Amino acid sequence: MPVPVILDCDPGHDDAFNILLAAAHPAVELLALTTVAGNQTVEKTTLNARRVCEVAGIRGVPIAAGRDRPLRGGPDREPRVAADIHGGSGLDGPGFGEGEPDVPQDPRDALTLIRDTLLTHPAPVTLVPTGPLSNIATFLLAHPELTPRIERIVLMGGSTGRGNTTPAAEFNILCDPEAADIVFSSGLPITMIGLNATHQARATPEVVARIAALGTPLARLCVQLLTYFAGTYREVYGFDTPPLHDPLTVAHLIDPSLISLVRAAVSVELTGTHTRGATVVDLHGVTGRPANADVGMEVDVPGFWELVIDAVRVLGEPAEGPPDTP
Ligand code: RIB
Ligand code: CA
Repeated sequence: MPVPVILDCDPGHDDAFNILLAAAHPAVELLALTTVAGNQTVEKTTLNARRVCEVAGIRGVPIAAGRDRPLRGGPDREPRVAADIHGGSGLDGPGFGEGEPDVPQDPRDALTLIRDTLLTHPAPVTLVPTGPLSNIATFLLAHPELTPRIERIVLMGGSTGRGNTTPAAEFNILCDPEAADIVFSSGLPITMIGLNATHQARATPEVVARIAALGTPLARLCVQLLTYFAGTYREVYGFDTPPLHDPLTVAHLIDPSLISLVRAAVSVELTGTHTRGATVVDLHGVTGRPANADVGMEVDVPGFWELVIDAVRVLGEPAEGPPDTP
C-alpha cells in the first residue's frame, strides 16, 4: 500500500524535487500540498508550488497556503527568507514567466486542508514538512483530537552537528524554534532528516548530466533549478556541489533502507544567545531525556539519486509514453 502523505513545504529548489518525487513514485500517495513562509514569503512559496505542479503535470493535488510568519512572529517582525540561496522568487533559475499557473490555489487555508485530508483519508497520514514547522505546530495545537490520524512526521530540519544559518541552527528550525519545540515535544512519531544527512546528498555534475540526458522539458527545467542552486551554494557556502535536502524525506518513505537512523532525544534550543534554533541531539543518551525522534545518519547516495532521476524521467514523459528514441 502506498504511504499517504501531505507535504508542507516552502519551495524552494529542493522542496520542488520533493514534490516531484512524491508525485512520481508509486510507493507514495501525495494527498495534499501545504505551503509556509520560509525560503520566501508564503505568497511566493505557494505560487512556486503551483508552478512546480504545472510544469510536472501534477494535477488534482490540492495546494493551500499556510502561515506567513513564525508563531512568535508579530506584525512588526518580518519573517526570515533565504533569497541568497533560492533567489527573489524562491525558485530562481528557470524562467517561469509572469502568468498564473494553470494549477489553482485551494480556497482553504493550510490548516483546514490538513484537517479535511486527515478526516477523509481512510488511514493515518504521514506529514512531511520541509520548511519551518509553523503550520504543523499550529495544527497540532488546534487539533489535538486528530493526532491519532497522523502516522508520523518525517521532517527535513535541524542537524546533529552544525547549523547552516547560524553556526548552531539550521534554517527550517531557526525560522520558527517555538514551532519546532512543539513538534518535537508532541509525542508523535518523528523522523528527523537533518543537515548531517542531507549534506551527503550532493547534486554533482554527473547527476545533473544524467538528468539533462533525459531530454524532456521537465528535465531541462530541473537542470536550470540545480544549476542556479549550485551557484548560490558555491557563493554562500563555498560548496562545490549543492546538497538537495528535502527529497531525502520522501526518499526515506519510499525506501527506508536508504538512510540509517538512530533513536535519540532531540531538544530545540529556544533561549541561547548564540544557539537559538539549534537541535540538540543526544546521540549518546547522556542527558537521560527520553528519545523522541529517529534521526537520519548515513545516506545511500547513489540509491537516493536513482529515485530522484527516475522521478524526473517518469513525470517528464508525455502522457502517451516515452519520447521517441532518436
Ligand atoms: O536548511 C535547508 C532547508 O531550509 C531546506 O528545506 C531548504 O529548502 C530550506 O527550507
Ligand atoms: Ca524547504
